[in-house]
Amino acid sequence: MDMTDVDYSTKIPNNIGLAEDRRVLKALEQWHPGYIDWWMQMGPEGFQEAEVYLRTAVSVDPKGWARFGYVKMPEYRWGILLAPAEEGRVIPFGAHKGEPAWQDVPGEHRALLRRLIVIQGDTEPASVEQQRHLGATAPSLYDLRNLFQVNVEEGRHLWAMVYLLHKYFGRDGREEADELLRRRSGSADKPRMLGAFNEATPDWLSFFMFTFFTDRDGKMQLESLAQSGFDPLSRTCRFMLTEEAHHMFVGETGVGRTIQRTCEAMKEAGIDDPNAIDQVRALGVIDLPTIQKKLNLHFTLSLDLFGAEISTNAANAFTAGLKGRFEETKIDDDHVLTDATYPVLEYVDGRFEEVDHPALSAINMRLRDDYIKDCEKGVGRWNKIIEKTGVDFALSLPHQAFHRHIGAFSSLSVSPTGEIMGKDEWDARRNEWLPSAADGDYIDSLMTPCRNPGDYAGWIAPPRVGIDSKPGDFEYVKLA
Ligand SMILES: [Fe+2]
Ligand SMILES: [Fe+2]
Repeated sequence: MDMTDVDYSTKIPNNIGLAEDRRVLKALEQWHPGYIDWWMQMGPEGFQEAEVYLRTAVSVDPKGWARFGYVKMPEYRWGILLAPAEEGRVIPFGAHKGEPAWQDVPGEHRALLRRLIVIQGDTEPASVEQQRHLGATAPSLYDLRNLFQVNVEEGRHLWAMVYLLHKYFGRDGREEADELLRRRSGSADKPRMLGAFNEATPDWLSFFMFTFFTDRDGKMQLESLAQSGFDPLSRTCRFMLTEEAHHMFVGETGVGRTIQRTCEAMKEAGIDDPNAIDQVRALGVIDLPTIQKKLNLHFTLSLDLFGAEISTNAANAFTAGLKGRFEETKIDDDHVLTDATYPVLEYVDGRFEEVDHPALSAINMRLRDDYIKDCEKGVGRWNKIIEKTGVDFALSLPHQAFHRHIGAFSSLSVSPTGEIMGKDEWDARRNEWLPSAADGDYIDSLMTPCRNPGDYAGWIAPPRVGIDSKPGDFEYVKLA
């Protein structure tokens, strides 16, 4: 069988010869019913019987890997798909640089590697849980379908990590795989592992911001794990990245269409002042300052996902050859970093400045910087949409020290423009910068479902093109 083809003859579709690997096949088959239980309990509420026009991977060849068709989500063929092995691949960084990539777990780094896989794995079901109520208020069938596509693929990403745990970690891997089905986003006693994955996703603008900012953190993490010297992890993450691109597309275009509709409505009504919030809201669209507040919230929650700026764990994972940097192989340095430094933004003597630190300890910081650059490009594209309509407003990313809960800035009270202030003043001004309860109520009031093919809720513009080149009135979801 061609390594890029997917075998659908087993219960668990795969391109890794699972039919011949009885031990792992059996372990996964035993894990499967618990996964389906989890999906039925925590997956999209109220739509398990709907027929959804979804893509399913039929190959891992980047050209033409997906097939589209109507599927009931619980019957989605969640599979285990690894990018093809690169012949002669070597570990691209760290103390083992240049050695052949590991096909098995390096014993000395076993615990650290397992932890990296579990942390990545935990985010995947968490986002499905966070988004499970959104179907009820989808602004169109097109958006409903995109939500479900993201959800089933996050489910598949969980499968990807669970496969690695079952295949390479024996008994403790199995236990970790079971735990991944037991934690719950936002639960008081068994929460998901990372903060942003325990936050609510109360409305569709939050969903779009989440897929733009938080799935983009996911992309950065997957990019650095795709560099891993542990080859099965690298191959898994490389295929996940091809799916992840759609999630960020959903986020970027979702926010873009919201902005587009707001600006168009303002122009039609002759409103020039973007800060005339009551007038803009009277049009039934989301005013730009509120969109900025949502952006501030999701960007800062996502920055926290990169962890502490200075981190021994991150240094260890790099030196061990387990987790590299964004585009590691394209960076022009020795990829070992024993003597290198990296400038880290710090608050020193009453001002922000960059201070050189050992590059190894600053691995998280570097990834966060790369992430911020990637976010900036997307924000620039949103601003182009605003500019084209002639509305005088620009969105921007807030200062890195604003509204932080993790890392060096978490003890500071900083405005989005980087002004330091007392906590009381910050608290008093919070609602200028982050969505208030009233903003939430307003957005909530717009979240009424729109379920006729081709119709869109009044707060969002239709997409420019359909999924799989389908026409505007295509029935992306056939409701049961
Ligand atoms: Fe994912
Ligand atoms: Fe994703």
